[in-house]
Amino acid sequence: MKTLIVLCLFAELALATIPPYIKICSRNDPNLSKCVINSVEELRPKLKSGIPELNVPGVEPLFLDEVKLRSGPNQAKINANITNIKVYGPSDFEILDLRVNLKKNKFIFRVNVPKIYFEGDYDIDMSLLLLNYKGQGPITGNFTDYKFDCTMNGNLIDKNGQKFLKFRKFDVTLYLGHSYMHLGNLFSETSSTIARATNEVVRDNADLFVNEIKPVLEDSLAQKFTDIANIITDRFSYDELFPVTKK
Ligand SMILES: *[C@@H]1O[C@H](CO)[C@@H](O)[C@H](O)[C@H]1NC(C)=O
Ligand SMILES: *[C@@H]1O[C@H](CO)[C@@H](O)[C@H](O)[C@H]1NC(C)=O
Ligand SMILES: *[C@@H]1O[C@H](CO)[C@@H](O)[C@H](O)[C@H]1NC(C)=O
Repeated sequence: MKTLIVLCLFAELALATIPPYIKICSRNDPNLSKCVINSVEELRPKLKSGIPELNVPGVEPLFLDEVKLRSGPNQAKINANITNIKVYGPSDFEILDLRVNLKKNKFIFRVNVPKIYFEGDYDIDMSLLLLNYKGQGPITGNFTDYKFDCTMNGNLIDKNGQKFLKFRKFDVTLYLGHSYMHLGNLFSETSSTIARATNEVVRDNADLFVNEIKPVLEDSLAQKFTDIANIITDRFSYDELFPVTKK
């Protein structure tokens, strides 16, 4: 009996009022897209570091799984493994366009990301013309002028007689802008001319790296944003987040 009362108390607490940084949008708002854009903009600073009181993790840094690079035999041979990748910047996005279909619980965003910065560790084995290099060290890089499309598809599920929105994993597609990469600790004992040349090869082949990193980054962003959205929509009911406003 005691447990039941405690559980009820928790249930009450769980249905806490919506915090001020979550702006609700009326279902019958004549410009619902505009309202949702404003609402996401208000929430954005919170996304970066997380919202501890709602157990929402921060987006940054975003940890990526290992990225492996294997270039073809006709190319310069570049084999590399990049590990411990941490990505900064994806939460500084700017919403370019948003389409909402509330009846289908579908939201389509197009977002601009001015700059993504990453750092990690590389293990590289490359040969190109007379240049052969095997080694490890830190890698850093910047991606600028990125865009991504994000499609969020959800379902309404019933919990204790209330409706809650639950999203399937978001669909994220990145469009590439410019990439700059730098390998540190090259040839600690060799000449800096070769180090410069190696970095040039890496820069010239940045697309190789980017193509391998892209799917991993898309997957990781999709998972992170889906988790965050679902924590919020699991906590506040559909009617709380999208109330009907009487005219
Ligand atoms: C809704 O707001 C957006 C962004 O401010 C604007 O571009 C669009 O024209 C508005 N649509 C309507 C139907 O008012
Ligand atoms: C990368 O990892 C693989 C094993 O997954 C290993 O065989 C290889 O030596 C590593 N280093 C490079 C530069 O490929
Ligand atoms: C990334 O950008 C920062 C700041 O703009 C700059 O200091 C750094 O050298 C850049 N790194 C690369 C690898 O381009």
